[in-house]
Amino acid sequence: AAQGESVITEIQDWNRYLGDGVVSQPYGVPSRYEANVVRRDVEWLTASRESSVSFTPLHELDGIITPNGLCFERHHAGIAEIEPSQHRLMINGLVDTPLVFTMQDLMRFPRENHVYFLECAANSGMEWRGAQLNGCQYTHGMVHCVVYTGVKLKHLLGEAGVKTNAKWILPEGADSAAMTRSIPLEKALDDCLVAFKMNGEALRPEQGYPVRLVVPGWEGNMWVKWLRRLEVGDQPWHQREETSKYTDLLANGKARRFTWVMDVKSVITSPSPQAPIRHGRGRAVISGLAWSGNGKIKRVDVSIDGGRNWTTARLDGPSLDKALHRFYLDIDWDGSELLLQSRAIDEAGFVQPTKNELRAARGENSIYHNNGIQTWYVKADGTVENVEVS
Ligand code: MTE
Ligand code: CO
Repeated sequence: AAQGESVITEIQDWNRYLGDGVVSQPYGVPSRYEANVVRRDVEWLTASRESSVSFTPLHELDGIITPNGLCFERHHAGIAEIEPSQHRLMINGLVDTPLVFTMQDLMRFPRENHVYFLECAANSGMEWRGAQLNGCQYTHGMVHCVVYTGVKLKHLLGEAGVKTNAKWILPEGADSAAMTRSIPLEKALDDCLVAFKMNGEALRPEQGYPVRLVVPGWEGNMWVKWLRRLEVGDQPWHQREETSKYTDLLANGKARRFTWVMDVKSVITSPSPQAPIRHGRGRAVISGLAWSGNGKIKRVDVSIDGGRNWTTARLDGPSLDKALHRFYLDIDWDGSELLLQSRAIDEAGFVQPTKNELRAARGENSIYHNNGIQTWYVKADGTVENVEVS
């Protein structure tokens, strides 16, 4: 910084006058200088805002936890505004005793806290056929990661008593979409949570207040919000969301179905199109996120030359099962153009594929489950563009 800068030599207003007192904001809000750190939508993507999506501003965030007000939203029929005392969760079907729980009833079961990412299966879906949207908020922002407080689903199913021929459950939402998905009983009894808190406070209405299903590592569509019913059955129900939607049409005309696990994936969040390099050459921080529905991230490699050479990035912060992982690569930028890529490897050994590898395996029809390697083209002036390299 220059000598004799006025920000140092002159007394600023915040140094001269008393500030606002406590509780001037009973529920705190970010600094007004952070007003551009918000969810955004892409108007032309959907016909209405009720059946639509908004995206997490990944390029402005750090660490692994998404603040509640910035979690992307995906609703098929708008946000249900539920009065919690009027909400019920019912378990029916192949159970010894059909049960109805109030919110108070749910609070009396043993509680657990877990950090998990939630990724919509359609995240990066617009990028299947080529580079499209200019910003990691739009290309990768259908993911968030919070700490959930809730009750293991196995406790509730245990209370109802699951019949021996039961193999599947069908969670149903109380919104006007009444969203339903078939989930194998094995997963339901393993790590699924019925959650009522996120990052310590009540779920936001957008995220399913007062209660949602948490299906760790599996596609976001299965995490039914405003959860009102769990039916237990002996076979899947073949609902709309697992037949006409959330299936992947291959080149041979057949479709992959029940593709639940979100594959290993990563993206550089900064620099990126909405977060250009503004400081010129020299010391620079490359930062990004990696995650996998198979468990923890083992390693992330970063390339600055479009995938020819790779350097292992530094994973920093908690490394948790089925949660976002933060990585950094600290570089000395000589001001030349870069083709930035990141490639994640998970603890099961899966390696994030290139987009061409993905298209070779799945064809060009797909929307869902695009975990291909993203390329950002950093120009000499520090601006960044979404591109593909072949
Ligand atoms: N649950 C209900 N009841 N209704 C919905 O429209 N959308 C699903 C899922 N659960 C949806 C729902 C989809 S497609 C996704 S990706 C996630 O919720 C999004 O969760 P979020 O809005 O908390 O980010
Ligand atoms: Co979704």
